[in-house]
Amino acid sequence: SVLIYFLVIALCYLIGSIPTAYLVVKRIKGIDIRTVGSGNVGASNAARVLGKWGFIGVLFADAMKGFLPVMLLKALYGEDTLVLAGAVALVVGHSFTCFLKFKGGKGVATGLGIFLALAPFQLLIAAVIFGVMLAVFRMISLGSITAAAFLAAMVWFGTEWHYLRYMTLIIAVLVIWLHRGNIARIVRGEERKVGERTS
Ligand code: G3P
Repeated sequence: SVLIYFLVIALCYLIGSIPTAYLVVKRIKGIDIRTVGSGNVGASNAARVLGKWGFIGVLFADAMKGFLPVMLLKALYGEDTLVLAGAVALVVGHSFTCFLKFKGGKGVATGLGIFLALAPFQLLIAAVIFGVMLAVFRMISLGSITAAAFLAAMVWFGTEWHYLRYMTLIIAVLVIWLHRGNIARIVRGEERKVGERTS
């Protein structure tokens, strides 16, 4: 029913909105993550302040923010459009968080979590592509953009669940759009490489 949709979308939006990177960096370093590095409220930028463990911790928490609710929804509703609506709301919450004036992260870690629940096989391949891109070019953003594009293509041809195809395409387009600043930096040859710390 419409009420269930409203409740699931609202709850998922709120869960997605929890700004993990902001909270962790604030707690450990006392600074606002939006004022350092890329300014992004995500694992990659947390790593620039906190190092490897900050990256792993924020990545894991943001991925779980997507994975756990979608697993629960899937267990309750199966392959229902409601599950996809919840998943989109989780990523939208992460990237347009109501707790930070609607400017959050780029949806990569949370997207990883939702697709680990919705299309684990394709996600695994996308993760390998990410790893290869990262090893070659040393830019998280380029790895994320490439992985998002490949994931959309793989899910498009790899699932019978039609709405999952469209939904994956929409998320991939959103994630790539959120990286438009990174794309401009990559083109200029100014994108940050992994391992460079800010403060
Ligand atoms: O998680 C987003 C990542 O792909 C790029 O982050 O901070 O380098 O813009 P950042």
